Amino acid sequence: PLIRLEDYRPSDWLIDTVDLDISLHPTKTRIRSQLGLRPNPAGRPGAPLVLDGDELKLVALRLDGLLIDETAYSASPQQLTLHAPPARRFTLMIDTEVDPSANTKLMGLYLSSHVYCTQCEADGFRRISYFLDRPDVMSVYTVRLEAKKLIAPVLLSNGNLVAAGDVPGGERHFAVWHDPHPKPAYLFALVGGALDVLRQTYVTAEGRSVDLAVYVEPGKADRAGWAMDCLVRCMRWDERVFGRNYDLDVFNVVAVSDFNMGAMENKGLNIFNDKYVLADPLTATDGDYASIEAIIAHEYFHNWTGNRITCRDWFQLCLKEGLTVFRDQEFSADERSRAVKRIADVRTLRTTQFSEDAGPLAHPVRPRAYKEINNFYTPTVYEKGAEVIRMLKLLVGEAAFRAGMDLYFERCDGTAATIEDFLACFAETSGRDLTHFARWYEQAGTPTIVASGRYDAAARSYTLDLAQKTAPTPGQPEKQPVVLPVALGLVGRSGDLPLATDSPAYAGAGLIVLDQPSLSVTFSDVGEPPIPSLLRGFSAPVRLELDLADGDLLRLFSSDSDPFNRWQAWQTVAMRALVEAGREPAQLEALRATGRALAEGLSDFLRDQAPADPAFAAQVLRLPAMGDVAREIGRDVDPDAIQAAHRALSTEIGLRLGPQLLELREKLGGSAPYSPDAASAGRRALRNEALGLIALASPQEGARLCEAQFAAGDNLTDRLAALAAMTLVPGEAREALIARFAKTYAAEPLVLDKWLMAQALIPEASTLDRVRELMQHPAFSMGNPNRIRALIGGFAANLTQFNRTDGTGYAFVAEMVIALDRTNPQVASRLLSSFKSWRMLEPGRRTLAQGRLAQVAATPNLSRDVADIAERTLA
Ligand code: ARG
Ligand code: ZN
Repeated sequence: PLIRLEDYRPSDWLIDTVDLDISLHPTKTRIRSQLGLRPNPAGRPGAPLVLDGDELKLVALRLDGLLIDETAYSASPQQLTLHAPPARRFTLMIDTEVDPSANTKLMGLYLSSHVYCTQCEADGFRRISYFLDRPDVMSVYTVRLEAKKLIAPVLLSNGNLVAAGDVPGGERHFAVWHDPHPKPAYLFALVGGALDVLRQTYVTAEGRSVDLAVYVEPGKADRAGWAMDCLVRCMRWDERVFGRNYDLDVFNVVAVSDFNMGAMENKGLNIFNDKYVLADPLTATDGDYASIEAIIAHEYFHNWTGNRITCRDWFQLCLKEGLTVFRDQEFSADERSRAVKRIADVRTLRTTQFSEDAGPLAHPVRPRAYKEINNFYTPTVYEKGAEVIRMLKLLVGEAAFRAGMDLYFERCDGTAATIEDFLACFAETSGRDLTHFARWYEQAGTPTIVASGRYDAAARSYTLDLAQKTAPTPGQPEKQPVVLPVALGLVGRSGDLPLATDSPAYAGAGLIVLDQPSLSVTFSDVGEPPIPSLLRGFSAPVRLELDLADGDLLRLFSSDSDPFNRWQAWQTVAMRALVEAGREPAQLEALRATGRALAEGLSDFLRDQAPADPAFAAQVLRLPAMGDVAREIGRDVDPDAIQAAHRALSTEIGLRLGPQLLELREKLGGSAPYSPDAASAGRRALRNEALGLIALASPQEGARLCEAQFAAGDNLTDRLAALAAMTLVPGEAREALIARFAKTYAAEPLVLDKWLMAQALIPEASTLDRVRELMQHPAFSMGNPNRIRALIGGFAANLTQFNRTDGTGYAFVAEMVIALDRTNPQVASRLLSSFKSWRMLEPGRRTLAQGRLAQVAATPNLSRDVADIAERTLA
């Protein structure tokens, strides 16, 4: 069934208290749930009580302690209905039984490598017990857990521990947890298992002492230190920047090895994919350290943006996700380099969200309808949702933004809120009408700003013409203009020129607000022809069409005061060359010429500026992603041509800069022991970008360097970079390094995931066979989402091999989707969304991809997850 935003109505019943008594058992876990129910004054009087279930087995049912007559209710695996419940407060006692071992969907209660854990967002609680499984039903939970002491010495749930002890008989024990903060069922969690723990005490700014704990698989506590360090830093940051203090006596983080997504913000008991907790220099890369920092912060920040204030319904998902991504991005920016963080985030936004917005799965930040909500945990809701918050802050200004957040926390605390509730706070603190701005939540698609500038020497003025347009997306043929904050500068020979204009669109402080289809702004007193530097800091999530000469772009690259736009200028020059050669393979020669010109520009940069900011320089050396090139080309895309162009341009740069790159590597390489800090990570990033270019330009030299770097490496970052660079160079040396890597890390599944992925991404015709072979490797398992995402997801992200001209890439991924759908629909539907860009391919591939999508869609007994993605992708 299609669920629509406009059909929302309050629940007829409320559940004030939930008392759970859960007796853990690997195949027969018994759950007794006592619900304190009452009619909702805002609901329909006399309505039946309809509780959600999913594959549930009802064992017993009592109302106020008495068994209920069988005619008074009906129960199925997906529903429990009380036809005529009493019109007063009453308690319902529901006994269910579930099999955690058989739960391969990893939603609800399941066993992950001998650890009992739960995942209830969005609708997993109904796989544990019948419930009003909707986020606007908030209850106070008390949870008694019982299990065998040997199997589950650790028993955790939300809130504070209030009792624990042995059960008579000696074999089993129990723990009782109480969470005083009312919460929706999706924030419920439990964990039971044999886990090691790292502990630390934290005192909040308000003076509350909090016991922090990070639980990990036995023997891995020495890998929990970074996560703990991140947790302490982000708790402090939220106090300082948003005035938010923690509100319980304990905060637990648990790492499990089988998890459908990154992590989950269950109240006081965050559960993580272990990939985003465990770190030490030999088993985690700099990128992992940064992701752990971001995700620990993200889940912690949800305590206020998500938990204390939750969502009225799942259409409001971006209320907590977009806002919390914004908060975690700001945290990382403050802890690291703001400019580099912004560049990295924009890269991700473009490759994941812009591609979603350009294809059949495009949807608004707040969708209007869904069949399966789990398919809407998307880059649009998360990353574009965060961009919307960033624009809001830019428009209302720092002070009104902070005041608006304060008001939001004060006014909506303890409620299940909406986007309207949120925006009202900022309208109030800024005195602005935000109705037009709110269109960002309703309209899908990436807007394009078309810009051009004219200098009038006689009048000493510069006029900027700006227009916006958004292409149609599914269900939205007509687009309206949105509110676009365009941060800008006019760059003269010696820096930014002063901006003077009486245009009402100019908001001051280098900001134009483009909220019309088009407008012009004339700046006066402009003494020289300037170069416009638009969308500084990527002030709006849009495409920009601005026809600047390469020379002007190179000047921005060398001298713009905005570091983001320096990087962007360079990317634009490279992108143009790649697009031309990607469109017209015969242009490869011209591309090499561009490569030579680019290398010259880079040479000065590498000499003069790179050593001072290696992290930034590494971002410069990395060319635009191939997927972005494909989208820029837009239609009849030939992935092989793009790959060839990408490789040719990198090779040319590598050839031209060879000696300089080697020298730079020397200069940056220290013998200091590994440290994950941003500055050290930046040096490694630059060294390793250089290594990739060298390997392409001179394979033998590259192989030698890669082998040496692998052997000498005291950290996974350098070792993996060596492997990755080597994958670009076919031959025996590569295979030897691949084998050596596997041997070195045989006992490290998370490291082998990277090894699987590096191979799945090799842009060669033999990769599909290699992937099939790797499926037989002991390191691989179809039961673990991380393994699947690494190997099969990696292959689906391999632009040339997924899009093989013989269609076998599509056939393989389709086959995997169908196989996986039987065990884990969420992972299967994620994988299927790799097809989302099929329409922009050239006709041959387009037909093949469509055929495989149709095959998936026609498969009997598909999950709702996969059926929904298949339908929408084909539509
Ligand atoms: N709320 C979690 C987070 O962003 C993610 C939960 C994803 N759930 C899902 N069913 N896809 O941190
Ligand atoms: Zn989140």
